[in-house]
Amino acid sequence: MYRILKSFILLSLVNMSLSQKIGKLTPEVHPPMTFQKCSEGGSCETIQGEVVVDANWRWVHSAQGQNCYTGNTWNPTICPDDETCAENCYLDGANYESVYGVTTSEDSVRLNFVTQSQGKNIGSRLFLMSNESNYQLFHVLGQEFTFDVDVSNLDCGLNGALYLVSMDSDGGSARFPTNEAGAKYGTGYCDAQCPRDLKFISGSANVDGWIPSTNNPNTGYGNLGSCCAEMDLWEANNMATAVTPHPCDTSSQSVCKSDSCGGAASSNRYGGICDPDGCDYNPYRMGNTSFFGPNKMIDTNSVITVVTQFITDDGSSDGKLTSIKRLYVQDGNVISQSVSTIDGVEGNEVNEEFCTNQKKVFGDEDSFTKHGGLAKMGEALKDGMVLVLSLWDDYQANMLWLDSSYPTTSSPTDPGVARGSCPTTSGVPSKVEQNYPNAYVVYSNIKVGPIDSTYKK
Ligand SMILES: *[C@@H]1O[C@H](CO)[C@@H](O)[C@H](O)[C@H]1NC(C)=O
Ligand SMILES: *[C@@H]1O[C@H](CO)[C@@H](O)[C@H](O)[C@H]1NC(C)=O
Repeated sequence: MYRILKSFILLSLVNMSLSQKIGKLTPEVHPPMTFQKCSEGGSCETIQGEVVVDANWRWVHSAQGQNCYTGNTWNPTICPDDETCAENCYLDGANYESVYGVTTSEDSVRLNFVTQSQGKNIGSRLFLMSNESNYQLFHVLGQEFTFDVDVSNLDCGLNGALYLVSMDSDGGSARFPTNEAGAKYGTGYCDAQCPRDLKFISGSANVDGWIPSTNNPNTGYGNLGSCCAEMDLWEANNMATAVTPHPCDTSSQSVCKSDSCGGAASSNRYGGICDPDGCDYNPYRMGNTSFFGPNKMIDTNSVITVVTQFITDDGSSDGKLTSIKRLYVQDGNVISQSVSTIDGVEGNEVNEEFCTNQKKVFGDEDSFTKHGGLAKMGEALKDGMVLVLSLWDDYQANMLWLDSSYPTTSSPTDPGVARGSCPTTSGVPSKVEQNYPNAYVVYSNIKVGPIDSTYKK
């Protein structure tokens, strides 16, 4: 699948959903972006990397240049079934700035929310690469991961997410030879929701059983899903934030089928091999409503340095993960994560005790422990994970699980229901796209290294 036409000049369409010709060849040129590796004592080495946009955002077409997929439906002639479709379809290069609203500058990347070219593009999902054909693998067990973020232009309903997933570093092209495009074209995505909206998974198309979304003109769900462990370092807008590990029984990318995928698209959310909920630390949800937001202790009007530390039992990079700690740096001040004020849930770290107590007190299903908890998350981190930088709005739950009261049927005063001060009527994607077309997020200054090596002045 995703064969790339090498010898023929393609007329590029604006994106897979709108199929309007812009009459230009589109070579795949990844925007460059640096990051740093630090060592004990705080000296850091700059590494040249680059970003690539996820294959799911791209134009997929036949050898003749016809769309394989338009809007939220497949072309039944080119794509009658998973195998034929994979053989017939080609992924094209991306115009990062004009079509996807993605720009880089030295150590930073900016993701715009709505980009109007000849079509309308909503958000993006990027992966950091070490070179043109391989994703960078980050090994952060026993280490810390630090970055700067500007969420000042992300209102209710938006989510600027920076996270790690256990994707294959080559996008899966070695394991699945029918995937000829590989990491260079952003293939191989997976996460702990075992997403079924991906057009290609494990060398196969996802046409069989495809049901177009009822409320999203660009997506649908097929029979296949793509599972892997996910460590959400950062999911945030200017009103709320969460840090959330999601382990899977098998950490590395694997394909799932239909309802056994679990997650939001399946009849049983908890029926898959991954933990779709995770164990989240959201300061607001943990009782401190004055900690994060505009003009609050962590002021979302200005750039925030976010430090996430992965502490092991023996302090090594191959020990057992026992705690995830969060620090923020703003105006030169190092600020610890706020401490839980919820009865029966203590502290400000994500550790086994916190997670077990939180699930109990909030009355949430403990799928986190069921899928191996922090120890299992640590194994995934040890093996190395791919960095994802994204900006999205939420066609399933209006992002209320992050920034409002959720579920909306529960009383906002019940423990765990209030997660942020956004109204329960906010976050409707059509409104968000209409009201905040100029929203954007900037991620910069990414650093990894031993504990306390990346943020001290
Ligand atoms: C690209 O990066 C991968 C992994 O980081 C490495 O194994 C490979 O040798 C690199 N390829 C080139 C051409 O530098
Ligand atoms: C919220 O967190 C800040 C910083 O840790 C602290 O100073 C403040 O007292 C906390 N507020 C509440 C209500 O716990």
